[in-house]
Amino acid sequence: MDNRPIGVFDSGLGGLTVVIEIIKELPGENIVYFGDTARIPYGTRSREIVTRYSSQSIRFLLSKNVKIAVIACNTVSACCFEILSDSFNLPLVSVIQPGARAAAEATRNGRVGVIGTSGTIRSKAYPDAIRAINPDIKVFDQACTLFVPIAEEGWSNTEVARYTAERYLQVFKQQKVDTLVLGCTHYPLLEKTIASVLNSDVRLVNPAVNTARRVKEILKSSNQLNNGQEHPGIEFYVSDFGQGFQTIGGRFLGREIQAKCIDIEEY
Ligand code: DGL
Repeated sequence: MDNRPIGVFDSGLGGLTVVIEIIKELPGENIVYFGDTARIPYGTRSREIVTRYSSQSIRFLLSKNVKIAVIACNTVSACCFEILSDSFNLPLVSVIQPGARAAAEATRNGRVGVIGTSGTIRSKAYPDAIRAINPDIKVFDQACTLFVPIAEEGWSNTEVARYTAERYLQVFKQQKVDTLVLGCTHYPLLEKTIASVLNSDVRLVNPAVNTARRVKEILKSSNQLNNGQEHPGIEFYVSDFGQGFQTIGGRFLGREIQAKCIDIEEY
């Protein structure tokens, strides 16, 4: 048993979609969450910058004595998982592999769509991971850049979101995908809107679900589960208070969030 916390980081509040799944899967664990709200978005930045920012996030989590770090951010997982794994002596969990596996298992017609930031889509990490599992699956991808600011603005269920989703996603109807990977932490916030513009039989895959299971597997195999706690704690840290992290994040998480602001450049 290891009662040190699980670290989770993302470029903003979107990683809370991963925290929710970790809480469901591992209710006894303490969690330290860091959202890099001062430097979001990562999805439009170069690999070098994303590597530097995410290395700082991991160093911050290490200062909080985490036993494992979950890279909730799809852009970071897609662009620099290997570099980060090689650089840190800490188990790291990416969302790509678990998401790819869920998609490969969900598709019935072998046609899968992937949406993400431009960084994630450019990396081809999801198509590569899905085809490594099953080379017969056809993968179609599409960057949906405007979804992140819409989610951060709290507009996930508005007409603006619906119109944007129609523009981005109509291509998947022509491609006849039956499964769509929500390849960005923010997109589960728009899940209802996304589902409403697709054919009703399209399965939406949230990589966070399998990611949380993967975290459990890793901790179980290393004998590091902490299931003795009745009221485990979650600490939230951000690099800037400018975004609606506490209000929008709190609404989404269904609990009050008291975040502390840190200077991430110190790490
Ligand atoms: N968290 C990022 C991801 O999952 C999306 C937001 C961003 O562009 O930073 O890819």
